Amino acid sequence: MDVKKIRSLMPNINDMTYLNTGWSGPSPTYVVDAIKSRLEIESFNGPTSPEILESGQKIMSDSKMLVSKLFNCMPEEVVLTDNTTDGINLILNGLPWKPGDEVVLCDLEHPSVLLPAYNLQSSKGVRLRMVSIDLSSNHNDIKQSFASTITGRTRLVMFSHIQYSTGLRMPVSAIASIAHKVGARVLVDGAQGPGHIDLDMNALGVDFYSSPGQKWLLGPDQTGALFIKHNLIPEVQPSRIGFGFSSNFNLEGRFDAVTQSVDKFSMSTTSAPLRAGYNAAITKILELKMPNVEKRNLELTKILKEGLSSIDGINILTPLDGNECSALTTFQINGADESEAVLQLWKNDKIVIRAIQSQKGMRVSTSFFNTEDEINKLVDAIEQLSNKAKA
Ligand SMILES: Cc1ncc(COP(=O)(O)O)c(C=O)c1O
Repeated sequence: MDVKKIRSLMPNINDMTYLNTGWSGPSPTYVVDAIKSRLEIESFNGPTSPEILESGQKIMSDSKMLVSKLFNCMPEEVVLTDNTTDGINLILNGLPWKPGDEVVLCDLEHPSVLLPAYNLQSSKGVRLRMVSIDLSSNHNDIKQSFASTITGRTRLVMFSHIQYSTGLRMPVSAIASIAHKVGARVLVDGAQGPGHIDLDMNALGVDFYSSPGQKWLLGPDQTGALFIKHNLIPEVQPSRIGFGFSSNFNLEGRFDAVTQSVDKFSMSTTSAPLRAGYNAAITKILELKMPNVEKRNLELTKILKEGLSSIDGINILTPLDGNECSALTTFQINGADESEAVLQLWKNDKIVIRAIQSQKGMRVSTSFFNTEDEINKLVDAIEQLSNKAKA
């Protein structure tokens, strides 16, 4: 991969060491230019003139087509959303619940999984069953823990593809097949998926996969996509009603509701400029080819883990190797407060990473545009903070 060429499209990141793509990725010029150009076209040419309307609709249909290539699914299975959390809510609020239904989740989850699930518990009488995952758990242990928690009462199993807290990559297809044996649905929080690891909805065997544009794809905020397996579209009811709900209605209150198409989730006016930026982000990732991008993301993580392992006083919470790995690494500096350390890295060295309070640790994202020199710079800075904490 030609990293120099990619970085020439990201002029601002040369002034800092940006290692926080798992929170939000910096958008390259091809994304920013696509947003600007669409905004100018709409603003200066009359946003509802026929040509502009048509090209706006094309941006939306292109978006579904691009996501379908990235996910290996059909464009008809893609709902354009605002972000990961939006898609998770669409599913949780749209499935038909009965009191006593159970939802299985795990204890490493992001608030975007936990809080909508807690709300379901209090509003619908659904029971939550929490799988506990040890930091040393491998895929086999995790499969067994899910298998012993999933029962005939389980209606939904929901979990993150890659855990935001530790970077653990979950055994998605294995959990999905356990869930499907009892007729449960599987919702994956794919916030850390697209642009980070290669994805294939068929191989993963999931029912619903919710994802953002602003993280590893390097797209703009307020863009995302939700995969709904085609045969389950009728099962998910829209909880918010807009233009897409019915194309045939009258003033007496009669309407024919759309059931079979994801069009039923379309609300109202959305931003074509932001969606144009999202499309540009995916187009570039597809051009680079996801297997190459994933390989580079993980190679950089390997260098980071080797560097951190060589420092005295560092406790790495992330799996060190194997199928459990991703390009997120969470670690602690013994004796140092995680938020203070993150602040010091910015003040002293212009390095951006984030604190993970739930683990009392710090998390680094290594993305394909990062360089080996940046990783080494971070490792040196961490060693200094560790020495300071020991002194
Ligand atoms: C695992 C996980 N889920 C959900 C989210 C929230 O994502 P979004 O802002 O796209 O809703 C994040 C963001 O960091 C995340 O890491």
